[in-house]
Amino acid sequence: MEHYVVKGGNPLSGEVEIAGAKNAALAILAASIMANEPVTIENVPDVSDIRAIVGAIDEIGGIVEHPERHIYRINGAYIKNEPVDNEAVRKIRGSYYLIGALLGKYKSAEVALPGGCNIGLRPIDQHIKGFRALGAEVHVAPPGLVVAHAEELTGSHIYMDVVSVGATINIIMAAVMAKGSTIIENAAKEPHVVDLANFLNSMGARIRGAGTDVIRIKGVEALHGTDYSIIPDQIEAGTYMYAAAATKGDVTITNVIPKHLECLTAKLTEIGCEVTESDDSVRVVANKRLGHTNVKTLPYPGFPTDMQPQISVLLGLSKGTSIVTESIFENRFKYTDELAKMGGRFRVEGNTAIIDGIEQYTGAKISAPDLRAGAALVTAALAARGYSEVYDIHYIERGYEDFPEKLRSLGACIALVNSDDEERRAINRFNMRVVG
Ligand code: EPZ
Repeated sequence: MEHYVVKGGNPLSGEVEIAGAKNAALAILAASIMANEPVTIENVPDVSDIRAIVGAIDEIGGIVEHPERHIYRINGAYIKNEPVDNEAVRKIRGSYYLIGALLGKYKSAEVALPGGCNIGLRPIDQHIKGFRALGAEVHVAPPGLVVAHAEELTGSHIYMDVVSVGATINIIMAAVMAKGSTIIENAAKEPHVVDLANFLNSMGARIRGAGTDVIRIKGVEALHGTDYSIIPDQIEAGTYMYAAAATKGDVTITNVIPKHLECLTAKLTEIGCEVTESDDSVRVVANKRLGHTNVKTLPYPGFPTDMQPQISVLLGLSKGTSIVTESIFENRFKYTDELAKMGGRFRVEGNTAIIDGIEQYTGAKISAPDLRAGAALVTAALAARGYSEVYDIHYIERGYEDFPEKLRSLGACIALVNSDDEERRAINRFNMRVVG
């Protein structure tokens, strides 16, 4: 077991490069098995969720090559369409994309129910509704296997009852080789939905309208190989933007698509940060205590639920009272108990957190309850007075490539330590200013 020891108080400064989008990569890697030819995918982030889905693809007979750290070459020609069920698949959310990919390609899929961060109930009824509309019979068999079979998949008109990223992507994959046309209404518009559609189109699919709430798909006979590069991770970028603001730093975040960051930028500007955009980078400068605001999470292009903990950490340090409303997942404020240990003043009422800003957090022993909250707590520790220990960092490693290394390159004092080791060693490293 490992944890981080963080010595807070250093403003972050410098330049940090953003990796490929984890949630786009999960969908695109799953979709890559739909061709019987090699597919090369670049800009894949090196994080544990990705290793889990690649492991699952390998296990079912996909030929997986990994020539460079961020490149995978996958050939789905020899997939054995057998039940996909192992510990790694049950741990991650993105494994449910194998249902859409296998069903779309073989008209049959048996995949373990997905895991993922414990941030709410996370049902998959909309995925199942979409598969059924395309003609599949779907049920959940013990011990938690989604079983979907169809004689033939036929295009359909599907209205999503809730805006769901996962269901939109899964239904697209199931429909790309269906007979006839499919229309998905009330579709999710997130950048990774667009990236998945662009990827499938580069394999010969005919998908139009991704990025709007009506997606139209004309079924094709087969998909072919392609070379594709994944978009930058909007949430990783946002996390560094908000960490720069929380530590009153000056950070340039490179390899981003500023358009995807617009609502994050708008909130920072609103509370008094300077944000400068260029073609593929944003610079965040905060040299004073920031102001308060209210935020409500919404599907894209609204404020992302995956940035809710990060903005709450920031508003916990702002002047005045802020209100943060979580409208996507019902259990995403667990981290406020950890912030309270650091002196933060958070009151949670249902899906709302009322935040009274304080001048500075105080270092404490805290645990990451999930991926994004874990990253946000590290941000709080970086802004805090004194030392913090952050446990359960395996959550953070699911989605942030080289997190401590990137933070250290920005001047942070953060060390990865073996939880069994004497902590003093890490503290000595800080005192000696050996932070590399
Ligand atoms: C994806 O989860 C992301 N995960 C999440 O990122 C992200 O928080 C979420 O989208 C929202 O942007 C992956 O891409 C692997 P949804 P997903 O389906 O697909 C309800 C991270 O930290 N819903 O868009 O599970 C659902 O309960 C993770 O990287 C249904 O009711 O999210 C939620 O309230 C955490 N029925 C809302 O829709 C369904 O069938 C949105 O969920 C599906 C969803």
